[in-house]
Amino acid sequence: MQQQLAQLVATAQAESKSVTNRAEMEAFKARVVGPNGSLTAAMKGMATLSKEERPIVGKLINEAKKSVEEILAALLTKIEDAEIGSALGTPLDPTLTGNETPAGFIHPLSRTREKILNTFKKLGFTIAEGPEIETEWHCFDALNTPADHPARDMQDTLYLPKSFRSVDAPRRGEEALVLRTHTSSVQIRTLLNRKPPFRIVAPGRCFRRDAVDATHSANFHQIEGLWIDHQVTLADLRGILDFFVKETFGADAEIRLRPSYFPFTEPSFEMDLRSPNLGRLSNRWIEIMGCGLVDPKVLELCGLNPNEYSGLAFGLGLERITMLVHGIDDIRHFYNNDLRFLRQFA
Ligand code: PHE
Repeated sequence: MQQQLAQLVATAQAESKSVTNRAEMEAFKARVVGPNGSLTAAMKGMATLSKEERPIVGKLINEAKKSVEEILAALLTKIEDAEIGSALGTPLDPTLTGNETPAGFIHPLSRTREKILNTFKKLGFTIAEGPEIETEWHCFDALNTPADHPARDMQDTLYLPKSFRSVDAPRRGEEALVLRTHTSSVQIRTLLNRKPPFRIVAPGRCFRRDAVDATHSANFHQIEGLWIDHQVTLADLRGILDFFVKETFGADAEIRLRPSYFPFTEPSFEMDLRSPNLGRLSNRWIEIMGCGLVDPKVLELCGLNPNEYSGLAFGLGLERITMLVHGIDDIRHFYNNDLRFLRQFA
């Protein structure tokens, strides 16, 4: 019996060598372990044995069975490897390098934002943030912008449906929500949440109900600046803006503060820039941001004493600065995701 089983395993081992695909494997399997297979027949033979012989032969049969299972497992691996090899056309070589996944690169607007934020970090500013969906109060009222101001008109500002609830709903009640029209709302959030003195810059996306053209986008980006301390003056404003402009446009760049009006600054200015490195715009005064000293009314509305504290604020458009730095002539390039445009900034 022992010899017979050894013979059976040896035959299976030898036959398995000539099996090369799944169909042949199935036939081979049937010849050994199928209902009429050689091993099955040996197992059936157990019935005719005496009580004493049975455990001894049973053990031998189990060993033979294990050997056959190993032969079948090895065969399956051999066939699977062959299948992968033929699917790939060549034998599998696991040491080959994989397909290259190209690394992305930073969008020109993000790059400008990082550069500007780094400039202000050098002046001791830290970064603040606020929500894009804002209450009317943070966006307008607290910034001393009255209800009849044109910016609050439905024609200029995107209001959210009444069904949207504010994160501040418990505190601010049923107030209307807008998509913030400027990052100046972060001035208010910072004034309410931090104790002066502080200097913050707040980058973020803003929305206006503008018709889209080469210089207008309904969705754009600003960086807001706010510095609150005991005696902040126009000299501080001029100093930091001059530093910013020289870092961004080169040491030859100059600034000019031109009187203007914003409800939340007094006095208010438009800051113009002039630089010899701006191509066809060289040596022309170009308006790039609004700024001024924080209106005492805003400090009061945020619970600060205007006799104790004063501040400066500014807000610049990221798209405009990036367009000037790189000589880009259409704001829509930033959002079209055209790699021929974007790759130039990789
Ligand atoms: N929020 C103003 C705008 O969007 C810019 C500004 C910011 C002006 C801070 C003064 C102070 O036009």
